[in-house]
Amino acid sequence: MIIEAEKIKDFSNKCFTKLGMPENEAEIITEALMEADLREIHSHGFMRLPIYVERMQKGLIETKANISYETDNGALALMDAGYSSGQVAGYLAMEKAIEKAEESGVGLVAVKNSNHFGITAFYSLMAAKKDMIGIVLSNVVPLMPAIGGAEKVIGNNPISIAAPTRTEFPIVADMAMSNTSFGKVLYAKEKREAIPEGWGVNAKGLPTTKPDEVINGGFLSSVGGPKGFGLALMIEILTGVLTGGAFSKMIPSMYDVNQKQSISHFMLAIDIKKLIPLELYYENINQLVSFIKNSKKAQGVSEIYLPGEIEFLKEKRNKEKGIHIEEDTLASLNKMAEQLGLSGLAPSEVTRL
Ligand SMILES: NC(=O)c1ccc[n+]([C@@H]2O[C@H](COP(=O)([O-])OP(=O)(O)OC[C@H]3O[C@@H](n4cnc5c(N)ncnc54)[C@H](O)[C@@H]3O)[C@@H](O)[C@H]2O)c1
Repeated sequence: MIIEAEKIKDFSNKCFTKLGMPENEAEIITEALMEADLREIHSHGFMRLPIYVERMQKGLIETKANISYETDNGALALMDAGYSSGQVAGYLAMEKAIEKAEESGVGLVAVKNSNHFGITAFYSLMAAKKDMIGIVLSNVVPLMPAIGGAEKVIGNNPISIAAPTRTEFPIVADMAMSNTSFGKVLYAKEKREAIPEGWGVNAKGLPTTKPDEVINGGFLSSVGGPKGFGLALMIEILTGVLTGGAFSKMIPSMYDVNQKQSISHFMLAIDIKKLIPLELYYENINQLVSFIKNSKKAQGVSEIYLPGEIEFLKEKRNKEKGIHIEEDTLASLNKMAEQLGLSGLAPSEVTRL
């Protein structure tokens, strides 16, 4: 179903402000959810709105930013997000990292006591828009076992690196350390579809294509086996361990509505022009883009894409078309609206943003 972008934006803002969230903070979460759905990363779009609202109603996510800095020296800062929304904490942390990079060449803001922050590219792209390279990491609830293990000890911790180009779109790698994200398994369940082989295993460690078996007692599989596990572990160190926050088995699921989450993030901005002239950087990166885009294609392939390009093309199309929402997602959004005393959403004709 297609929902007019302006309509869902307004709906989302109203849900958060109804809970007492300041308008500018509600707009940050809405923008992050919108960006995910526009890029067709539906697993991290408006589908997550009801769980954020429920967690706010239960006092597990602060409805007003409750942020303080334990360290704020030169290029470095350590933010205590005080259980604020992950999107608000993440946005403010990257904003500060960019300011620091403008001063010092690099800016690193490490964040503890935050919440699930949605798509990682939302924050790395903030740096790319300022002629900077953005590197963003986060830890999450453990979803994968160690290599040879049969117990969840490490998250499918996401990483995103965004680099500006002078082509139509920046290059942005945005990925989790599992073969897929847990959100995509949830989304497959929502769509009542099987998941591809290799995405996860059941509680006995056996491969499965049933989303329910991964969600209920099973595990996601790490991308590239030990290599993915190693990277996920290093992200855990650069987030939960480096901030003095929670890590690994200390982090409960966002769907456990009895406990606070304590997620940590790592927001790094590198100001390119402090290292080399911007013109040289853009000349080089555009040449790199050309090497890749114009490289010899495998048989049957009509186009070679760069990381983030497919999502960019989808975003461009969906800004015209509207946001695609699954029937079950719309039902849960409308159920939540009713509880909040707000009007529900109805699918609309195709409209422009
Ligand atoms: N907040 C969290 O806790 C959390 C946890 C896990 C994942 N996530 C988010 O979930 C989203 C999905 O993660 P994922 O690992 O499933 O990503 P994915 O597998 O959909 O994409 C991974 C990367 O591969 C690139 N890519 C895909 N097809 C390509 C092609 N044909 N050619 C070139 N590049 C291509 C994409 O542009 C992207 O950069 C991400 O936005 C991630 O940040 C968030």
